[in-house]
Amino acid sequence: MRLTVAIDGPAGAGKGTIARALAARLGLGHLDTGLLYRAVGALGGDPVATARALRPEDLTRDDLRSAAAGEAASRVAAIPEVRAALLAFQHDFARRDGGAILDGRDIGTVICPDAPAKLFVTARPEIRARRRWLELGGDTAPEPFEAILEQVRARDARDETRADAPLRPADDAVVLDTSDLDPDTAIARAESIVRTRLGL
Ligand code: C5P
Repeated sequence: MRLTVAIDGPAGAGKGTIARALAARLGLGHLDTGLLYRAVGALGGDPVATARALRPEDLTRDDLRSAAAGEAASRVAAIPEVRAALLAFQHDFARRDGGAILDGRDIGTVICPDAPAKLFVTARPEIRARRRWLELGGDTAPEPFEAILEQVRARDARDETRADAPLRPADDAVVLDTSDLDPDTAIARAESIVRTRLGL
């Protein structure tokens, strides 16, 4: 069996933290597929041409984690030709020797539908917005909590309602709600689910 782990979910649910920890514990490669869309958005130009010309070095730009890059990513991610142009990169990564964890929005549904282990990591919008607000400095954050909550809801709506590869759990994904879990507990639950699915 190929060791492929698909982790999907909305922004701020903790899927990146979980994916990184599981990759280290299980010795698997890790691809944060959001970086592909962030890089396309940040590089600018015609998004389809930019996606077709994307190089691995583009994923290491240091401006990809900003809120603006996240917004730009979510806009270019709604373009079917952009998604199609990024397929081969993701498939190649998923097939690498030794196994791989990919995290994103459509890994379990579109990119790796045959992955033996699929997690859908989620949390209530208020909780995800609060995590983001604290990350930005809490009371000293450049934007009030309400504005961040509004952005979280808008990005969810765009990702969930787009026609191509909308954000939703695969039928065979295990849903993990991290709203009331600390990171260590969330990672431990995810590890146990994935080990069972992979037979490790
Ligand atoms: O996960 P991250 O916040 O980095 O993703 C940024 C945006 O990229 C998401 O809001 C989503 O629109 C898009 N994305 C996607 N499919 C993926 C990963 C990210 O559409 N597999």
